[in-house]
Amino acid sequence: MKGVLLSGGTGSRLRPITHTGPKQLVPVANKPVLEYAIEDLKDAGITEIGVILGHKGRDEIQELLGDGSSYGVDITYIVQGNPLGLAHAAGCAKDFVGDDDFVMYLGDNILKSGITDLVHSFEAGDYGAGIALQEVEDPQAFGIADVDNAGNVTELIEKPDDPPTNLALIGMYVFSPIVFDAIEGIEPSWRGELEITDAIQSLLDDGQDIDSQVVHGWWKDTGRPEDILEANRLVLEDMQLNRDGQVASDATVEGRVDLDETATIEADAVVRGPVSIAEGTVIGSGTYVGPYTSIGPNSTLEGIHIENSVVIGESTIQTSGQIVDSLLGRGADIGSADEDLPRGRRLVVGENSQLKL
Ligand code: TTP
Repeated sequence: MKGVLLSGGTGSRLRPITHTGPKQLVPVANKPVLEYAIEDLKDAGITEIGVILGHKGRDEIQELLGDGSSYGVDITYIVQGNPLGLAHAAGCAKDFVGDDDFVMYLGDNILKSGITDLVHSFEAGDYGAGIALQEVEDPQAFGIADVDNAGNVTELIEKPDDPPTNLALIGMYVFSPIVFDAIEGIEPSWRGELEITDAIQSLLDDGQDIDSQVVHGWWKDTGRPEDILEANRLVLEDMQLNRDGQVASDATVEGRVDLDETATIEADAVVRGPVSIAEGTVIGSGTYVGPYTSIGPNSTLEGIHIENSVVIGESTIQTSGQIVDSLLGRGADIGSADEDLPRGRRLVVGENSQLKL
């Protein structure tokens, strides 16, 4: 079994963060989203992984993952270029996959319970494909599967008005290599993409059995800023903690706090977990870092009250205000306007930024 990890795409819903880098490298609890997928593949015994690269961010992804050896896997890079759809991305991996079965994993998705059950269930039968499903509250917004008592898929419906189930397809699939014939036979959808659901439907139409596995732990597609914050909350709840950094004797550190050994919490700072603070970061005096916050590397915070937020890193935040529910890109510099005239907020804001003042 091989792995195909999709790291292309446009990432338009995560602009401006994705103007300068791929969304799969946005950190959740101070770890790039893509690394969670690599770990899930490895935990399922999959060490030969093809990473699909899009038209931007290729260098950064290759710089992070290298040849995979630091993760105990073997990585081959496959260039898709323009995002012509999930089935197109899978099709780009045809030579890499050869005659093997493979897991296709969307590189911006995070799953609490991993993919081992999905892989085992697929391997236990003779299936053309296996899909991961999760119960959702708004099935009208998803691709939905109908399944029989044995878990075999009987029908796939994209964003149904009248959903037969609330079981949504999530971002992990297992395929036998016959899917490549199915991909060659499908046409682009109304949005101009080769849809993976159309390829699976074509397998069904050809009489292939399609397995399904309902995933019970949380699953998050990190496509939008609010999704990053939610994924960050979910991962921080569960993460393993180190408390190796320096904490001043009169600082207050409560709850689940992960503190890198090179990070510092200075006097009179209050950090209330779950929180993750990365290497080289200084939480200065008078700063409050509240629950569900990750502060990336080499950042300096002073005076700010911040909670339920992700600071990607290399940032300076020196002001007495409050920041909540926010995603701050790398190198963000936030200070005080003090008493300078004219009074007002001074902003240098990237294209497609969202501010609530
Ligand atoms: P999406 O989130 O559906 O697509 P996107 O990245 O274009 O996002 P947006 O709608 O915000 O513009 O993609 C799911 C995952 O699959 C994501 O990790 C990107 C990847 N992908 C590819 O690698 N190639 C593709 O052609 C597409 C459409 C997605």
